[in-house]
Amino acid sequence: MTAEAPIYTLSEGCPYADPSTAQRFGNSPVKGLMLLQDTQLIETLAHFSRERIPERTVHAAAVGAWGEFEVTHDNSRLTSASFLNGIGKKSKVLLRISTVGPERGSAETVRDVRGWAMKIFTEEGNQDFVFNSIPVFFVRDPIKFPSVNRSHKRNPAKNTADSTMFWEQVLNVTLPDGRWLIPSSSFHNNNQEGIHALMLLFSSRGLPSSLRQINSYSGHTYKLTKEDGSFVYVKFHFKSNQGVQGMSLEQATKLAGEEPEHHTIDMWNAIERGEYPSWTFCAQVMTADQAEKYRWNIFDMTKVWPHADFPLQPLGKLTLNRNPENYFADIEQAAFSPSTMVPGIAPSADPSESPSLRPSAGLLPRAYADRDGAMRYMTNYGDDPNYVRSSLRPVTFRGSLGANGSANGGREHEDWVGKVTAYASEVTDDDFEQARAFWKVLQTAGEQESFVDNVVAHLKSAMARVQQGAMDMFSRVDPAIAKAIKAGLDKHSAIQTDQPSKK
Ligand code: HEM
Repeated sequence: MTAEAPIYTLSEGCPYADPSTAQRFGNSPVKGLMLLQDTQLIETLAHFSRERIPERTVHAAAVGAWGEFEVTHDNSRLTSASFLNGIGKKSKVLLRISTVGPERGSAETVRDVRGWAMKIFTEEGNQDFVFNSIPVFFVRDPIKFPSVNRSHKRNPAKNTADSTMFWEQVLNVTLPDGRWLIPSSSFHNNNQEGIHALMLLFSSRGLPSSLRQINSYSGHTYKLTKEDGSFVYVKFHFKSNQGVQGMSLEQATKLAGEEPEHHTIDMWNAIERGEYPSWTFCAQVMTADQAEKYRWNIFDMTKVWPHADFPLQPLGKLTLNRNPENYFADIEQAAFSPSTMVPGIAPSADPSESPSLRPSAGLLPRAYADRDGAMRYMTNYGDDPNYVRSSLRPVTFRGSLGANGSANGGREHEDWVGKVTAYASEVTDDDFEQARAFWKVLQTAGEQESFVDNVVAHLKSAMARVQQGAMDMFSRVDPAIAKAIKAGLDKHSAIQTDQPSKK
């Protein structure tokens, strides 16, 4: 708020005497028609019916805050990115943490992955990161993304969440000629590559106690580059300095009714109290040579790089320290584009890395190269020539390599990365190995029982064949999981019929 009281005006800036009056036609005391000449009335009503912007198709509901990123280590061996170099250097940050499936305004304590969209305002332009709260993804082929997300949303007929759709999509039950089919141990053409992500979702990670207590992960493999053209592959992690903490299904369900904005309130109040949440920014680092020899495909987003093989290297610290001044202006209309990278950070051949987000993210005029067009709110570069490389107005070009310095992998490594093909990945037993390791992690954490309860709570309303398909899938991780799920469904008398949940 400015100290001086703002002057009330119409849209074009003309001062106006009273915001509540409207011009009418007619004799007193009968006043009837409203007048089209009444700019205030027309503007007020016209703006009200246009003040919504389309919500994001995924990640619609979110909590956001401002903060700072600080370099805590000497990272010059890894990258020339300016914001990552110079211990103590600070850059302003905007962070938006979202649920994925639910619409804007829905309860925040629902089982879901949390999105982590972040803008670091560096002296070399904005660095956008678009991460998730789990290190792996449900699909490794981006073409499947719309389907996987729609199946987590609403049944198109009933307009309700639908367990059958959710699980069937994972199992890829198909409906040729009106018949329901579940390949019980499919090796081809299904989506069970997402088993590791699915298990994380149904663990305590899927219901965070607060958003201060989540980690976030690039999942994607990036490159960190240096000015000499050399690079390493990295996966980024933000590790919560508050620890990672989940909540029980019962508590989450209660809060969804009693305090649906629980996570917003928690974050807002913590920042107001001066309890600024912070995260350690780390990278797992791999050379091109190691990448070629590694047992997992490093561009497969359904796989982690085990820390035992590639330990976390701390690079910096993120602190959130300021609440939004206006949620719509600061958070809702923020636009994140993962392809916005500063020199020193570059994309890899990771296939899930490319999608650009919110349409408006790509509409802002690029500095210098773009002229005219929508949203040209500055001087449009005056009388500078409107073509590139003019000698009439020399321009400075920084760096020697395009694509953020990532071009130079060496001929053989580029051959290893591959050539253009039409491709759909297949699921093999290898895809269940990391999920099996995670099941053991749940044992150590004493969480196996609650994991099974969480799956049962969701699966219990799915149709019988889908329930059976899910159990077959979990058997491939460990037959004990399927057995426990079966017992849980029996206990709730929740083995359903095979009728698809349709009208
Ligand atoms: C693989 C294919 C993917 C596609 C096609 C895709 C597509 C999208 C779309 C359409 C949006 C909404 C954009 C908007 O309306 O603003 C979105 C948002 C988002 N996505 Fe993805 N996505 C993909 C993968 C991923 C992955 C792997 C991650 C994380 C590792 C991720 C993290 C996010 C986040 C955090 C947002 C919210 C951005 C915000 O806060 O504005 N996405 N994505």
